[in-house]
Amino acid sequence: MSINSKNKELKERTQAALQGGGEKAVEKQKASGKLTARERIIALLDKDSFHEYDLFIQHSGRDFDMDKKILPGDGVVTGTGTISGHPVCIYAQDFTVSGGSLGYMHAKKICKIMDHAMAMRTPIIGINDSGGARIQEGVNALAGYGEIFYRNTMASGVIPQISVILGPCAGGAVYSPALTDFVFVVDKISNMFITGPDVIKSVLGEEISKEDLGGAKVHAQISGNAHFYAESEQECFKQIQDLFTYIPWNNTKKADPFEAKKPNSKDYKINNIFPSDPAQPYDVRNIIKGLTDASEFLEIQELFAPNIVIGFGRIEGETVGFVANNPGAMAGVLDCDSSDKAARFIRFCDAFNIPLVTLVDLPGYLPGINQEHAGVIRHGAKILYAYSEATVPKITVILRKAYGGGYIAMCSSHLKADFVFAWPTAEIAVMGPEGAANIIFRKEIKESDNPEKVRKEKIDEYREKFANPYVAASYGYVDSVIQPNETRKYIEHALQMTQNKKQDTPFKKHGLPPF
Ligand code: HXC
Repeated sequence: MSINSKNKELKERTQAALQGGGEKAVEKQKASGKLTARERIIALLDKDSFHEYDLFIQHSGRDFDMDKKILPGDGVVTGTGTISGHPVCIYAQDFTVSGGSLGYMHAKKICKIMDHAMAMRTPIIGINDSGGARIQEGVNALAGYGEIFYRNTMASGVIPQISVILGPCAGGAVYSPALTDFVFVVDKISNMFITGPDVIKSVLGEEISKEDLGGAKVHAQISGNAHFYAESEQECFKQIQDLFTYIPWNNTKKADPFEAKKPNSKDYKINNIFPSDPAQPYDVRNIIKGLTDASEFLEIQELFAPNIVIGFGRIEGETVGFVANNPGAMAGVLDCDSSDKAARFIRFCDAFNIPLVTLVDLPGYLPGINQEHAGVIRHGAKILYAYSEATVPKITVILRKAYGGGYIAMCSSHLKADFVFAWPTAEIAVMGPEGAANIIFRKEIKESDNPEKVRKEKIDEYREKFANPYVAASYGYVDSVIQPNETRKYIEHALQMTQNKKQDTPFKKHGLPPF
């Protein structure tokens, strides 16, 4: 055979494999508003950067007439490419080939590219669009999932892992995304659940649609399983590209520095945003934007537990992870969900060398039977654990309320914040003046001729004495009381001072965080 005919054969074989599940299946995919696996990869990566591998992999199923079937690429496309010039490894399940179901060789392909990502210390991106374990392959399909979960766990904290849900992701398959760092979902395209509506109906008699059970909105807003929500696949890819500008490519690196820019002081002037009435709510996102370069802020889990805000911004070109109570939602309390949300983010920042800036304004942990029974003790402890074990630079600014356990939990000096600043409006105390006065002066108030008047006096007395930053500052728990408009300057300097921070931790195999 001449080289020309060999080349021709390669072309024909490649062409056939690239057809995926064939014209009809591709048409069905498009009709449901979805791109194909390769189109998705190409849309996400830098132009012309995608290199595909294992195109000629064959499935190994032999039962139920599977030996007579050809499944091009075994239903998953894998390869490498770049995003903003940085290498990434990627796989995308191809729903047009046997519903993207996961058989032994399909899983082997995914594991191979994950191993490559780990060896080369590049991020791994998985695009999920699959009917789950390939039923005809039995335990081999389950084994495949197990191998993926193991690799997700080993890669955790070493390389960033991104899951993109662009179709069904059901049964045990959901646990790979759940083990990764960021999960992206798209409205009316993503579905995630352990058991689908049919099983729920037959076991529990409950009826629910796929969308209401595990659609994009549900995971972005209610379950908290998703970190980014988009209206379209294109918007989702843009979100991933944005995220990659803020995070490093592995745990030995820092995120790429950008050109430093000043915040947009016209729209986000802190003195104009922060209310003078201490009881008035405000949106802490605007304070964050008053601090970041060009007032840019990439918010994570925007729709879930909005009483805490997390995300990335830059200060003097350096990526910073923000954790901020949001008085605009439930007064910014810590509860089960907001503690989970913040703790996981703090751990991501710590694993990937991203300094943490914490903005504090909260009345404490949320009281209530629901919260107690839902395990607010266990969930709330996660945030304490995450801040305490984090060794990246930790800078805390107390804006207003810092009461009780909330004061301690929000990266106080006791959890080894490197710098704690407080605005003159800060109120650092065991609890708010109203609650405190009612408890410690209960007898005096009750026995007085004018209880209301005495209550008010006692509240004022308590506020005067404790609801300020100066008591904490007198013990050195606050390093500096600063003007709000000096905050960025102080954070800039703190980041400069902590850039060579080195903190040793005691030897242990691993800790036991309360999860
Ligand atoms: C084998 C599968 C498959 C699967 C889909 N297909 N899921 N083949 N194993 N799990 C095939 C279909 O037979 C069909 O093949 C093609 O993919 C397209 O599927 P359709 O049903 O025509 O597509 P659609 O109508 O869009 O429905 C999509 C779907 C449905 C909702 C995902 O296919 C479905 O319910 N699949 C089964 C889901 C499931 O129960 N999976 C197992 C979960 S348990 P042809 O040849 O007709 O094109 C699990 C355990 C993992 O995953 C545990 C890990 C720890």
